[in-house]
Amino acid sequence: MGSSTSKAVTGLLCTLTISCPVPISTATVSATRSFQPLPFSSSDRWIVDAKGNNVPVVGINWPGAADTMLPEGLGYQSIANIVQWLTDTGFNTVRLTFAIEMVDDILDNGGDVTLSDTLTQALGPANGTIILADILTNNPEFTANTTRLQVFDAVAAGLAAQNIYVHLDNHVSKAMWCCSLTDGNSWFGDTYFDTDKWIRGLSYMATHGKANWQTFSSMGLRNELRPALTGAPNLQPYTWSTWKTYMTAAASAIYSVNPEVLIYFSGLESDFNIEPAVGGSTLLDPGFSFDVASYEWAHKLVFEMHEYDENISSSCPIYEAILESFGADATTRTTGNRGPLVISEWGHDETDASDAWQSAYTECLTQFMTDRQLGWMLWVLAGSYYIRSGTQDYDETYGLLDHTWSDYRGVNSSAAIKQLVESTYAAYGQ
Ligand SMILES: *[C@@H]1O[C@H](CO)[C@@H](O)[C@H](O)[C@H]1NC(C)=O
Ligand SMILES: *[C@@H]1O[C@H](CO)[C@@H](O)[C@H](O)[C@H]1NC(C)=O
Ligand SMILES: *[C@@H]1O[C@H](CO)[C@@H](O)[C@H](O)[C@H]1NC(C)=O
Ligand SMILES: *[C@@H]1O[C@H](CO)[C@@H](O)[C@H](O)[C@H]1NC(C)=O
Repeated sequence: MGSSTSKAVTGLLCTLTISCPVPISTATVSATRSFQPLPFSSSDRWIVDAKGNNVPVVGINWPGAADTMLPEGLGYQSIANIVQWLTDTGFNTVRLTFAIEMVDDILDNGGDVTLSDTLTQALGPANGTIILADILTNNPEFTANTTRLQVFDAVAAGLAAQNIYVHLDNHVSKAMWCCSLTDGNSWFGDTYFDTDKWIRGLSYMATHGKANWQTFSSMGLRNELRPALTGAPNLQPYTWSTWKTYMTAAASAIYSVNPEVLIYFSGLESDFNIEPAVGGSTLLDPGFSFDVASYEWAHKLVFEMHEYDENISSSCPIYEAILESFGADATTRTTGNRGPLVISEWGHDETDASDAWQSAYTECLTQFMTDRQLGWMLWVLAGSYYIRSGTQDYDETYGLLDHTWSDYRGVNSSAAIKQLVESTYAAYGQ
């Protein structure tokens, strides 16, 4: 990362606004790492930059898809502070999540919604007013009338100022904490998962990001597809054939308006299983076949998987064999759809007392990722959420940051993440 240049840019912005970044950590990033130029493509098993050099994806999730439809944390910190902290830790990518409902509001329901209105709707008038005041104090470039998408734009600009890539993830259709089998967001045709609006929303954001976000690198089609238990009347069969119908249509829609961004494909079973897509067929759905090379966006496809602690990792070789059987062999296989793989969510309790960085799960998974030179995105940046599942100011123990987004949640945790960041770059010779 071109840290000295980007810090100069940030410093300039800082003199123009009141929200000057105050570095939270004293760690520094490698001086030899340089910004890798966009657009990215996939080439064999690698993500490559515009010059053809391999790109490590060293990322973290920044949620923005829950009830307020705003990137989290802004009641506690400025965007610049949060981004400075990302830079100091060494991340080069943020997986920024959004809800299709935000686009539906823009296109169908009278236009984009203001900070004032979205906070009042999600938190109620009393708390909505308090959190609005907090956001405006920390981020004085906003007003009560700044809209949700303008806040996304400001986050994207803050990330670009520090050379951090924006990976935009469609997390849900109806904005809420994700994911259950009964939340109506699970599967194509579920209560809130209108497939036409989903594709329209992806196209809208692909277009918007292309025009407005300088470091827009990639998009994830949908978070954690899973069976739906809602009995929604339009629910499509839970099969890989259904998956292919909609995922390829969405990828083509994105590619037609934005042929630059990478397109991440997740699988079924809450992103645990991508094997049929990687292997190209499946015994469970004999009519299904998937040949990536036959699509015009073949050079943009990246596979993604989520790996949380499923209590299957007491032995690393066995754990790796299980992951591979579900498609984590995408980068090493010689048949089917060999391609890049990013572990776009993984994580655990970040409090030191949990000792989770020492768990078999974390040790086996991080070893697997660095050995295979896989990209990854930790869940999660958030110390706390505006609201999660009805609880306001919800504390996130999986957050790398503490409740007020002002320091690392754990001392040992901060050392461990920095070590993993460095190991990942080192595996790429950076
Ligand atoms: C307002 O937020 C606080 C947490 O900051 C919460 O305890 C309280 O229940 C919220 N009030 C309402 C009316 O939701
Ligand atoms: C927000 O918009 C309303 C209505 O358009 C206007 O009356 C008000 O002055 C605006 N407030 C700010 C802070 O810009
Ligand atoms: C994890 O698996 C082991 C055996 O494989 C079992 O004894 C243990 O109860 C499981 N733990 C949890 C939390 O499920
Ligand atoms: C942090 O790590 C040190 C060194 O490994 C260890 O002695 C200490 O117990 C850890 N602290 C916590 C709270 O886990």
